[in-house]
Order: sequence, then C-alpha cells, then structure tokens
Amino acid sequence: MDEECIKRAAQMILESIQVVALTGAGISVESGIPDFRSPGGLWTKYDPLLYGTYEGFVNHPERFWEMAKELNPTLENAEPNPAHYALAELERLGKLRAVITQNIDHLHQRAGSTDVLELHGTHRTGHCMACKRVFTLEEMKELSCDGDRVACCPDDQATIKPDVVFFGEPLDSRVLARAAELASTSDVMLVVGCSLEVYPAAALPEYTKRRRGKLIFVNTTATNHDRQADLVCLGKAGEVVPAIVSEYKKAAGLI
Ligand code: APR
Repeated sequence: MDEECIKRAAQMILESIQVVALTGAGISVESGIPDFRSPGGLWTKYDPLLYGTYEGFVNHPERFWEMAKELNPTLENAEPNPAHYALAELERLGKLRAVITQNIDHLHQRAGSTDVLELHGTHRTGHCMACKRVFTLEEMKELSCDGDRVACCPDDQATIKPDVVFFGEPLDSRVLARAAELASTSDVMLVVGCSLEVYPAAALPEYTKRRRGKLIFVNTTATNHDRQADLVCLGKAGEVVPAIVSEYKKAAGLI
C-alpha cells in the first residue's frame, strides 16, 4: 500500500468541506462478491448481452433467474468488509455526505452508511411486471413457475422483475438527479472499486471535476479514466479505504 498516497488522500479529505463516495463492484470483492469485468468477473461467465439487458430479461427471464440462483447464496452470505465500514465511519465523523453506489448488495447500509444512493437498484426486492405488486427476495425465491425457472406473480402469473437496473433500462431519475447534485457540489469524490465503464455513473466524477473538486480513485488496477483523477491509490479497497480514514482521523486530531 502506498503510504504517501494514503497521506495525500487523507489531507485532501481534511481540507475538504463536502466529500462524496462513488463505489462499484470492486468494493465488495473482498466480501466475496465477484465484480463484473475483472478476470473471473460475472460478465466473464455470463454474456451481459444475454443476461444483463432489459430486452433479454423480457424475452428470456429464465436466463437471469438462472444466474440469480447461482449468485444469491454469495450475496446472502456476503458481509460488509473494512472498506464499507470505513465509509460508514467517515459519514459518522460528519465528513462524508453520502455513498453513491452502483452495487445492489446492500453492504453499505449493513455497514452503517445511512445515506446510500443505489444507482443500479437493489437485489432485495422485485415487482410483478403486470400488476406491479412488490415482492421481497425471500418471497421471490418461493414464487416460481415455468418449471421453477422463473419467479412469477401468484396473482396473475406474470414474471417478477428484480429491482435491479438492466442495461437498456432507465435509472430512477430522482436517484440520478440527487447523485448528480451531490457530485457537482462536492469538493472531493472518493471513487472506490469502479471501472467507470458504464454511464451515467461513469460521468459523475466529471461533475465533481467541473466544479474544481478533487478526485481520489481507489482501485486494484488502472482504469481508462485515471487521467481525470488527482490521486490514484492502487490497492485493495478493504485495506486502502480504512487506511485513508485512519490517516484522516490522525490528521484531524481525532485519534
Ligand atoms: N479493491 C479495489 N478495487 C477492486 C477490487 C478490490 N478488492 N477488486 C476489483 N477492483 C476493481 C477492478 O479493477 C475494476 O476496476 O473494481 C473495478 C470493478 O469494475 P467492474 O467489474 O466493471 O464493476 P463496476 O465498475 O461496478 O461496473 C459498473 O456495470 O455491469 C454493470 O450494473 C453493473 O454496476 C455495474 C456497472
């Protein structure tokens, strides 16, 4: 871990007024949840054009539900890791306004973050595509038809769609508007575990940059957007983020 990078990141946070975090699948890899584009990631096993698009889900929901059945145990057994807890602590210290996440795993909330914007929805609920009735994850697991391959509404046998955002599906406009507002009014954005390959989430760091805010990237690898960053701290989120928060507390005289 680059101690100099940690110190510089902590100093940026100390000198900032408004910090916001943007997280991606990389922050949950140390919780046992594979990311999408790294070697062994979800999209290296499942073709996103077949398993990740809205049109694909409408025409072949059994494909998504097959992938979900494999992934659910991983999601359910996952626990927040030190990176999630460190961001929750930064919020409790009054230094982090919110977490904008692309993740659907609910780990930020379970770690104690109270202001979490789920840009790409959540795996915890779903709704009937006909009557819009809402179902919990537990209910969806019980409600199946088509030979147990698809979750279906008991009222009208229509397919239940999980409340995750598929490619080709619009994001919740209120969540996106608030994320853009937070990004454009923060003077530091801490970008953790994001490849920044998927828009509109990938545009958010630019909103901060445009208002002369600083970008701190935490990642195990380089991204195509590193030239945007004021600081790139290479390393595992579960090690780097807690180290930055601990260094910030020291610099702020909190420990
Ligand atoms: N610590 C920090 N970064 C990590 C770690 C780790 N332990 N493990 C992986 N990473 C990095 C990878 O190097 C990569 O840059 O996290 C990033 C994960 O990138 P993706 O797999 O593309 O995930 P993400 O950026 O969240 O994808 C965005 O794409 O498929 C859609 O909806 C899906 O929300 C997802 C969106």
